[in-house]
Amino acid sequence: MINHPTAFRLALLTWYQQNQRSLPWRTEPSLYKTVVSEFMLQQTQIKTALPYFERWMQRFPDFKTLADAESDVVLKHWEGLGYYNRARNLHKVAQWMRDSEEVPDTVEAWKALPGIGDYTAAAIASIAQGIPSAVVDGNVVRVLARLTNEQTAFANNGKAVDFFKGLANTLLDSESPGDANQAMMELGATVCTKGNPQCGLCPLQTFCQGFAQGSVADLPKIQRAKREKVKLNRGLAIQQKKILLHKIGTEAKRLKGHYEIPNLESLNLSENSDRLEVVSIRRRAISNQSIEEQLFRVSAEGLSFEGDEALNWIDFSEINSILLSGPHRRWLKEYLQTLDNN
Ligand code: ADE
Repeated sequence: MINHPTAFRLALLTWYQQNQRSLPWRTEPSLYKTVVSEFMLQQTQIKTALPYFERWMQRFPDFKTLADAESDVVLKHWEGLGYYNRARNLHKVAQWMRDSEEVPDTVEAWKALPGIGDYTAAAIASIAQGIPSAVVDGNVVRVLARLTNEQTAFANNGKAVDFFKGLANTLLDSESPGDANQAMMELGATVCTKGNPQCGLCPLQTFCQGFAQGSVADLPKIQRAKREKVKLNRGLAIQQKKILLHKIGTEAKRLKGHYEIPNLESLNLSENSDRLEVVSIRRRAISNQSIEEQLFRVSAEGLSFEGDEALNWIDFSEINSILLSGPHRRWLKEYLQTLDNN
Protein backbone atom coordinates (compact mmCIF):
# COMPACT_ATOMS: atom_id res chain seq x y z
CA MET A 1 0.00 0.00 0.00
CA ILE A 2 2.61 2.50 1.15
CA ASN A 3 5.81 1.65 -0.71
CA HIS A 4 8.34 3.21 1.62
CA PRO A 5 7.02 2.86 5.16
CA THR A 6 10.26 3.98 6.79
CA ALA A 7 10.33 7.21 4.79
CA PHE A 8 6.61 7.64 5.50
CA ARG A 9 7.13 7.33 9.29
CA LEU A 10 10.04 9.75 9.23
CA ALA A 11 8.11 12.34 7.21
CA LEU A 12 5.13 12.11 9.57
CA LEU A 13 7.17 12.30 12.79
CA THR A 14 9.36 15.13 11.53
CA TRP A 15 6.26 17.11 10.59
CA TYR A 16 4.76 16.44 14.03
CA GLN A 17 7.89 17.52 15.87
CA GLN A 18 7.87 20.81 13.98
CA ASN A 19 4.14 21.51 13.81
CA GLN A 20 2.39 20.01 16.81
CA ARG A 21 0.17 22.30 18.76
CA SER A 22 1.37 23.11 22.21
CA LEU A 23 -1.24 21.53 24.46
CA PRO A 24 -1.26 21.27 28.26
CA TRP A 25 -1.27 17.46 28.24
CA ARG A 26 1.74 17.44 25.93
CA THR A 27 4.05 19.93 27.60
CA GLU A 28 4.48 18.04 30.88
CA PRO A 29 2.85 14.70 30.14
CA SER A 30 1.68 12.26 32.78
CA LEU A 31 -0.54 9.19 32.76
CA TYR A 32 -3.27 11.13 34.56
CA LYS A 33 -3.23 14.01 32.05
CA THR A 34 -3.32 11.55 29.17
CA VAL A 35 -6.31 9.72 30.61
CA VAL A 36 -8.24 12.93 31.33
CA SER A 37 -7.48 14.49 27.94
CA GLU A 38 -8.40 11.34 26.03
CA PHE A 39 -11.75 11.09 27.86
CA MET A 40 -12.46 14.74 27.07
CA LEU A 41 -11.43 14.34 23.43
CA GLN A 42 -13.67 11.32 22.83
CA GLN A 43 -16.49 13.46 21.48
CA THR A 44 -15.13 16.96 21.71
CA GLN A 45 -12.76 19.12 19.71
CA ILE A 46 -9.49 20.24 21.23
CA LYS A 47 -10.40 23.92 21.35
CA THR A 48 -13.62 23.18 23.24
CA ALA A 49 -11.92 20.80 25.66
CA LEU A 50 -8.97 23.09 26.51
CA PRO A 51 -10.57 25.37 29.12
CA TYR A 52 -12.27 22.37 30.72
CA PHE A 53 -8.96 20.55 30.91
CA GLU A 54 -7.27 23.50 32.64
CA ARG A 55 -10.06 23.85 35.21
CA TRP A 56 -10.12 20.11 35.75
CA MET A 57 -6.40 20.00 36.55
CA GLN A 58 -6.74 22.87 39.01
CA ARG A 59 -9.54 21.14 40.87
CA PHE A 60 -8.54 17.47 40.42
CA PRO A 61 -4.74 17.40 39.97
CA ASP A 62 -4.36 13.62 40.26
CA PHE A 63 -6.23 10.31 40.24
CA LYS A 64 -6.64 10.31 44.02
CA THR A 65 -8.19 13.78 44.26
CA LEU A 66 -10.59 12.92 41.47
CA ALA A 67 -11.40 9.52 42.99
CA ASP A 68 -12.20 11.09 46.37
CA ALA A 69 -14.39 13.89 44.97
CA GLU A 70 -18.20 13.82 45.21
CA SER A 71 -19.87 12.87 41.95
CA ASP A 72 -21.87 16.14 41.89
CA VAL A 73 -18.63 18.11 41.98
CA VAL A 74 -17.14 15.98 39.21
CA LEU A 75 -20.20 16.47 37.01
CA LYS A 76 -20.24 20.19 37.70
CA HIS A 77 -16.72 20.45 36.26
CA TRP A 78 -17.89 18.62 33.14
CA GLU A 79 -21.00 20.80 32.72
CA GLY A 80 -21.34 21.96 29.13
CA LEU A 81 -19.05 19.32 27.60
CA GLY A 82 -21.96 16.93 27.06
CA TYR A 83 -21.97 13.13 26.95
CA TYR A 84 -21.82 13.08 30.74
CA ASN A 85 -21.25 9.33 31.02
CA ARG A 86 -17.67 10.19 30.12
CA ALA A 87 -17.34 12.10 33.41
CA ARG A 88 -18.96 9.29 35.41
CA ASN A 89 -16.68 6.73 33.80
CA LEU A 90 -13.57 8.86 34.26
CA HIS A 91 -14.51 9.17 37.94
CA LYS A 92 -14.78 5.37 38.17
CA VAL A 93 -11.44 4.92 36.42
CA ALA A 94 -9.84 7.26 38.97
CA GLN A 95 -11.37 5.21 41.81
CA TRP A 96 -10.08 2.05 40.20
CA MET A 97 -6.59 3.55 39.95
CA ARG A 98 -6.74 4.68 43.60
CA ASP A 99 -7.80 1.25 44.82
CA SER A 100 -5.70 -0.97 42.62
CA GLU A 101 -2.19 -2.18 43.27
CA GLU A 102 -1.31 -2.14 39.61
CA VAL A 103 -1.57 0.21 36.68
CA PRO A 104 -3.00 -1.36 33.49
CA ASP A 105 -0.15 -1.91 31.05
CA THR A 106 -1.76 -3.45 27.98
CA VAL A 107 -4.45 -2.24 25.60
CA GLU A 108 -6.70 -5.10 26.78
CA ALA A 109 -6.24 -4.13 30.43
CA TRP A 110 -7.20 -0.51 29.67
CA LYS A 111 -10.25 -1.70 27.76
CA ALA A 112 -11.47 -3.56 30.84
CA LEU A 113 -12.03 -0.20 32.58
CA PRO A 114 -15.32 1.74 32.24
CA GLY A 115 -15.67 4.12 29.30
CA ILE A 116 -12.48 2.94 27.59
CA GLY A 117 -12.96 1.42 24.13
CA ASP A 118 -10.49 0.54 21.39
CA TYR A 119 -9.73 4.14 20.57
CA THR A 120 -9.13 5.48 24.08
CA ALA A 121 -7.22 2.35 25.14
CA ALA A 122 -4.85 2.64 22.18
CA ALA A 123 -4.41 6.37 22.77
CA ILE A 124 -3.58 6.00 26.49
CA ALA A 125 -1.35 2.94 26.05
CA SER A 126 0.62 4.46 23.18
CA ILE A 127 0.93 8.04 24.45
CA ALA A 128 1.57 7.37 28.13
CA GLN A 129 3.22 3.96 27.99
CA GLY A 130 4.84 3.65 24.56
CA ILE A 131 2.77 0.58 23.66
CA PRO A 132 2.54 0.22 19.86
CA SER A 133 -1.19 0.23 19.17
CA ALA A 134 -2.71 2.38 16.44
CA VAL A 135 -5.44 4.89 17.22
CA VAL A 136 -8.08 5.15 14.52
CA ASP A 137 -10.59 7.97 14.85
CA GLY A 138 -12.47 9.97 12.22
CA ASN A 139 -9.41 12.11 11.49
CA VAL A 140 -7.19 9.08 10.96
CA VAL A 141 -9.79 7.41 8.72
CA ARG A 142 -9.78 10.50 6.51
CA VAL A 143 -5.98 10.57 6.24
CA LEU A 144 -5.74 6.85 5.43
CA ALA A 145 -8.63 6.81 2.95
CA ARG A 146 -6.97 9.64 1.02
CA LEU A 147 -3.49 8.14 1.24
CA THR A 148 -4.73 4.88 -0.26
CA ASN A 149 -7.39 6.42 -2.53
CA GLU A 150 -9.90 4.02 -0.94
CA GLN A 151 -13.15 4.11 -2.93
CA THR A 152 -15.23 1.79 -0.71
CA ALA A 153 -18.44 3.46 0.47
CA PHE A 154 -18.60 2.60 4.18
CA ALA A 155 -22.01 2.16 5.78
CA ASN A 156 -20.90 4.13 8.82
CA ASN A 157 -17.91 5.48 10.71
CA GLY A 158 -17.40 2.30 12.72
CA LYS A 159 -17.07 0.20 9.56
CA ALA A 160 -14.45 2.59 8.19
CA VAL A 161 -12.52 2.51 11.49
CA ASP A 162 -12.47 -1.32 11.43
CA PHE A 163 -11.39 -1.33 7.80
CA PHE A 164 -8.34 0.89 8.40
CA LYS A 165 -7.14 -0.59 11.70
CA GLY A 166 -4.80 -3.10 10.06
CA LEU A 167 -3.17 -0.51 7.82
CA ALA A 168 -2.85 1.95 10.71
CA ASN A 169 -1.00 -0.68 12.76
CA THR A 170 1.26 -1.56 9.84
CA LEU A 171 2.22 2.08 9.38
CA LEU A 172 2.63 2.83 13.09
CA ASP A 173 6.14 3.70 14.19
CA SER A 174 6.75 1.17 16.96
CA GLU A 175 9.57 3.25 18.46
CA SER A 176 7.37 6.33 18.95
CA PRO A 177 3.79 5.07 18.83
CA GLY A 178 2.40 7.92 20.96
CA ASP A 179 3.84 10.62 18.73
CA ALA A 180 2.98 8.68 15.58
CA ASN A 181 -0.66 8.33 16.68
CA GLN A 182 -0.94 11.95 17.70
CA ALA A 183 0.71 12.99 14.44
CA MET A 184 -1.94 11.19 12.39
CA MET A 185 -4.77 12.71 14.45
CA GLU A 186 -3.16 16.13 14.29
CA LEU A 187 -2.62 15.93 10.54
CA GLY A 188 -6.28 15.02 10.06
CA ALA A 189 -7.41 17.84 12.33
CA THR A 190 -5.20 20.60 10.90
CA VAL A 191 -4.00 19.77 7.34
CA CYS A 192 -5.93 16.84 5.89
CA THR A 193 -9.21 18.46 6.85
CA LYS A 194 -12.66 17.57 5.63
CA GLY A 195 -13.67 20.73 3.83
CA ASN A 196 -10.49 22.45 2.86
CA PRO A 197 -7.50 20.08 2.74
CA GLN A 198 -4.13 21.84 2.60
CA CYS A 199 -2.29 19.37 0.37
CA GLY A 200 0.43 21.94 -0.29
CA LEU A 201 1.39 21.79 3.40
CA CYS A 202 1.11 18.02 3.77
CA PRO A 203 4.23 16.04 4.71
CA LEU A 204 2.66 12.92 3.18
CA GLN A 205 1.84 14.38 -0.23
CA THR A 206 4.39 12.25 -2.10
CA PHE A 207 2.88 9.10 -0.54
CA CYS A 208 -0.71 10.10 -1.23
CA GLN A 209 -2.55 8.20 -3.93
CA GLY A 210 -5.66 10.34 -3.47
CA PHE A 211 -3.56 13.43 -4.22
CA ALA A 212 -2.07 11.73 -7.29
CA GLN A 213 -5.55 10.86 -8.54
CA GLY A 214 -7.13 14.22 -7.67
CA SER A 215 -9.70 12.52 -5.44
CA VAL A 216 -8.80 13.95 -2.02
CA ALA A 217 -11.93 16.07 -1.75
CA ASP A 218 -14.22 13.05 -2.32
CA LEU A 219 -12.69 10.82 0.35
CA PRO A 220 -13.50 9.10 2.60
CA LYS A 221 -16.84 7.80 1.36
CA ILE A 222 -19.02 7.24 4.40
CA GLN A 223 -22.80 7.08 4.21
CA ARG A 224 -24.42 9.62 6.44
CA ALA A 225 -26.69 8.15 9.09
CA LYS A 226 -30.23 9.45 8.91
CA ARG A 227 -30.95 11.59 11.92
CA GLU A 228 -34.20 11.12 13.77
CA LYS A 229 -36.12 14.41 13.95
CA VAL A 230 -37.33 15.39 17.40
CA LYS A 231 -39.46 18.40 18.25
CA LEU A 232 -39.71 19.69 21.79
CA ASN A 233 -41.58 22.58 23.35
CA ARG A 234 -40.24 24.06 26.55
CA GLY A 235 -41.65 26.67 28.88
CA LEU A 236 -39.86 29.47 30.72
CA ALA A 237 -41.90 30.32 33.79
CA ILE A 238 -40.54 33.02 36.07
CA GLN A 239 -41.90 34.32 39.32
CA GLN A 240 -40.26 36.57 41.92
CA LYS A 241 -36.71 36.01 40.68
CA LYS A 242 -37.21 32.29 40.51
CA ILE A 243 -37.34 30.06 37.47
CA LEU A 244 -39.23 26.80 37.22
CA LEU A 245 -36.84 23.99 36.27
CA HIS A 246 -37.23 20.25 35.87
CA LYS A 247 -34.75 17.87 37.46
CA ILE A 248 -33.99 14.92 35.20
CA GLY A 249 -34.37 11.57 36.98
CA THR A 250 -31.72 8.90 37.38
CA GLU A 251 -33.59 6.57 35.02
CA ALA A 252 -33.10 8.96 32.07
CA LYS A 253 -30.69 8.02 29.30
CA ARG A 254 -29.07 11.42 29.10
CA LEU A 255 -28.35 14.21 31.57
CA LYS A 256 -29.24 12.29 34.72
CA GLY A 257 -29.40 14.67 37.69
CA HIS A 258 -29.21 17.79 35.53
CA TYR A 259 -31.83 20.50 35.55
CA GLU A 260 -33.52 21.56 32.32
CA ILE A 261 -36.10 24.03 31.12
CA PRO A 262 -39.30 21.97 31.50
CA ASN A 263 -41.39 20.49 28.70
CA LEU A 264 -44.78 22.06 28.19
CA GLU A 265 -46.43 18.68 28.87
CA SER A 266 -44.98 18.53 32.36
CA LEU A 267 -46.55 21.96 32.98
CA ASN A 268 -49.88 20.59 31.68
CA LEU A 269 -49.80 23.01 28.79
CA SER A 270 -50.06 22.47 25.06
CA GLU A 271 -48.35 24.40 22.33
CA ASN A 272 -51.66 26.11 21.51
CA SER A 273 -52.36 27.47 24.95
CA ASP A 274 -52.99 31.21 25.07
CA ARG A 275 -50.76 31.49 28.15
CA LEU A 276 -47.73 31.09 25.88
CA GLU A 277 -45.60 33.37 23.77
CA VAL A 278 -42.77 32.10 21.54
CA VAL A 279 -39.34 33.32 22.66
CA SER A 280 -37.11 31.48 20.20
CA ILE A 281 -36.54 28.31 18.22
CA ARG A 282 -33.26 26.41 18.67
CA ARG A 283 -31.91 23.61 16.53
CA ARG A 284 -29.07 21.25 17.36
CA ALA A 285 -27.87 17.71 16.74
CA ILE A 286 -26.95 15.20 19.44
CA SER A 287 -25.85 11.66 18.60
CA ASN A 288 -28.29 10.55 15.91
CA GLN A 289 -31.05 13.03 16.66
CA SER A 290 -31.75 16.36 15.14
CA ILE A 291 -33.63 18.36 17.73
CA GLU A 292 -35.76 21.43 17.29
CA GLU A 293 -36.69 23.11 20.55
CA GLN A 294 -39.22 25.86 20.76
CA LEU A 295 -38.95 28.03 23.85
CA PHE A 296 -42.07 29.73 25.19
CA ARG A 297 -42.57 32.36 27.82
CA VAL A 298 -45.20 31.01 30.22
CA SER A 299 -47.18 33.19 32.56
CA ALA A 300 -46.54 31.70 35.96
CA GLU A 301 -49.86 32.67 37.44
CA GLY A 302 -52.24 29.75 37.79
CA LEU A 303 -49.78 27.14 36.56
CA SER A 304 -50.80 23.72 37.82
CA PHE A 305 -48.27 20.99 38.21
CA GLU A 306 -49.02 19.97 41.78
CA GLY A 307 -47.35 16.83 42.99
CA ASP A 308 -44.61 16.78 40.37
CA GLU A 309 -41.57 16.73 42.60
CA ALA A 310 -39.18 16.98 39.69
CA LEU A 311 -40.34 20.58 39.09
CA ASN A 312 -38.64 23.12 41.32
CA TRP A 313 -38.63 26.90 41.61
CA ILE A 314 -34.93 27.78 41.51
CA ASP A 315 -33.82 31.16 42.80
CA PHE A 316 -31.76 33.17 40.28
CA SER A 317 -28.92 33.24 42.84
CA GLU A 318 -28.71 29.43 42.71
CA ILE A 319 -28.54 29.07 38.94
CA ASN A 320 -24.76 29.11 38.75
CA SER A 321 -24.31 26.37 41.30
CA ILE A 322 -26.87 23.86 40.02
CA LEU A 323 -26.09 21.32 37.33
CA LEU A 324 -27.76 22.56 34.17
CA SER A 325 -27.50 21.22 30.64
CA GLY A 326 -25.01 23.36 28.66
CA PRO A 327 -27.39 24.65 25.98
CA HIS A 328 -30.12 25.26 28.56
CA ARG A 329 -27.74 27.37 30.63
CA ARG A 330 -26.95 29.44 27.54
CA TRP A 331 -30.59 29.86 26.54
CA LEU A 332 -31.59 30.79 30.06
CA LYS A 333 -28.81 33.35 30.33
CA GLU A 334 -29.82 34.92 27.03
CA TYR A 335 -33.46 34.99 28.07
CA LEU A 336 -32.74 36.55 31.45
CA GLN A 337 -30.64 39.20 29.70
CA THR A 338 -33.58 40.14 27.47
CA LEU A 339 -35.68 40.56 30.62
CA ASP A 340 -33.02 42.81 32.17
CA ASN A 341 -32.96 44.93 29.06
CA ASN A 342 -36.72 45.46 29.01
N1 ADE B 1 -7.71 13.56 19.56
C1 ADE B 1 -7.84 12.72 20.58
N2 ADE B 1 -6.70 12.58 21.25
C2 ADE B 1 -5.81 13.38 20.64
C3 ADE B 1 -4.46 13.69 20.87
N3 ADE B 1 -3.81 13.13 21.87
N4 ADE B 1 -3.86 14.54 20.03
C4 ADE B 1 -4.56 15.07 19.01
N5 ADE B 1 -5.82 14.84 18.76
C5 ADE B 1 -6.46 14.00 19.56
